[in-house]
Amino acid sequence: MSGTSADGIDVALVRIEGRGFRSRLELLAHSHTAYPQPVRRAVLAAMNASTASVAELSRLNFLLGGLYADAVLKAQRAARVQCELIGCHGQTLYHQGSAQAFLGRKIACTWQTGEAAIIAAKLGVPVVSDFRPADMAAGGKGAPLVPFLDYVLYRHPRFGRVVQNLGGIANLTAIPASAQPEQVIAFDTGPGNMVIDAVTQQLFGKPYDRNGSFAARGKPVESVLRELLRNPYFRQKPPKTAGREQFGREFVRELLRRCARVAKHDIIATATALTARTIALTVRTFVMPLTANGRPTNWRDFIVSGGGTKNATLMKMIREELAPMRLRVRATDELGVPSEAKEAAAFALLAYETWHRRPSNIPSATGAQRLAILGKISYG
Ligand SMILES: Nc1ncnc2c1ncn2[C@@H]1O[C@H](COP(=O)(O)OP(=O)(O)O)[C@@H](O)[C@H]1O
Ligand SMILES: [Mg+2]
Repeated sequence: MSGTSADGIDVALVRIEGRGFRSRLELLAHSHTAYPQPVRRAVLAAMNASTASVAELSRLNFLLGGLYADAVLKAQRAARVQCELIGCHGQTLYHQGSAQAFLGRKIACTWQTGEAAIIAAKLGVPVVSDFRPADMAAGGKGAPLVPFLDYVLYRHPRFGRVVQNLGGIANLTAIPASAQPEQVIAFDTGPGNMVIDAVTQQLFGKPYDRNGSFAARGKPVESVLRELLRNPYFRQKPPKTAGREQFGREFVRELLRRCARVAKHDIIATATALTARTIALTVRTFVMPLTANGRPTNWRDFIVSGGGTKNATLMKMIREELAPMRLRVRATDELGVPSEAKEAAAFALLAYETWHRRPSNIPSATGAQRLAILGKISYG
C-alpha cells in the first residue's frame, strides 16, 4: 500500500482463511519502506501536475513496480515468510470519483501506478492490482475499498463502531450495531495529514509535524477554522471521496492566505484542528443519526489507524471533539492490527477475494450499482 501522503510503501504479510465477510486474518508481519527523497518528489510532482511528460509517467510506473517488489522481498526476508499472492494498491496519481464532461462524454476516472507485472516477475507469484476501476465501471466512486476489511474485523452485534483512518486523507467506515454489509457507510471526511504535512513543509521545512509537537505549541485560530469549514465538501452527503484534487496545493495556498499575520505554530495548530473538527462535524451529521434494522444505534467505539495516530496533538483534539458524542477513541492496535498496517492488510484481503473470483466492493460505501470483483491479475 502506498497512500496519498506519498511517504512510502507499507507491506503487510497476512495469513487468510475462510471467505468473504467470514474471512479470518492473522497479521504475520509488517514493514514500512520510505520512498527515497527524489522518488517522493517525483510522485508528488506527478500527482499535482497539470501537464506532465508521458515518458516520465511511464518510467515512474515501472520504477514503482520495482520498489514495491523490493519492499515485499525485504518484508519476506525479515519475517522468514514467503507469500503466495500479492495485492498491490499502487500509487494514486489521479482520482475523480464523479463523472464530469470530457470530449463529449461524462467520465469518472482513477489512475493508480506501479507496474504489477514487475512485482509478479520479481516475486514469482500472482499479483492483483488496480482495484478501483471495476467499482467505477459498476457506477461507484472507486473508493473507499477498505470498508470490506473494516466490516470483517470490527462489526459488533450490540455496539456501533466508527473506524477512522488518518492517512493523507481521513476516511471513516460506520458500522451500526448488527449491521448487514449494505448498512455500512463509508466516505472521506476530508484532510487527514495532508494539509498538516503541507503547511509544516512550507513553514518549517519538515515533511510532517512529528508527534504533533509544532501544533502543541500553537493555538487554532477560530475565525480561520470557521471560514475553512464553509468548504462545501464538508456538508456534502456521502458517498464522497477526496484527494489532493480537493485538499492539495490550492487549498493550502488559501489557508496560508487567510493566515497572513498568524504565528507559525498557530497555523499548524489550525491545520490540525481542521482535521479534528471536520471529523467530528461529519460524525455528528452523517453517522450518529444512522439506524440499522429500524433501530437507532448505540455508537460506542471510534477505532483509529494510519500515520495520523502518531500525531499526539491531532489525537488529543479528536478526543476532545468526540467527547460530547460519548465515543471511546481506541487505536486498531488495541484490537489486534497495528495502525500502520491496516490499509495494507485490507488490500491483501481484497486480493485474496479477487483470486477466488469473489466481489469485495461495498456498494453502500462506494455508491456502485452492484457488487464487483476488483482488480487485475498479473501472473508471476
Ligand atoms: N511520528 C509521527 N508524528 C506525526 N505524524 C506522523 C508520524 N508518523 C507518520 N505521521 C503522519 O502520517 C502520514 C503517513 O500516514 P499514512 O497512514 O501512511 O498515510 P497515507 O495512507 O496517506 O500514505 C505522514 O505523512 C505524517 O503526516
Ligand atoms: Mg503511507
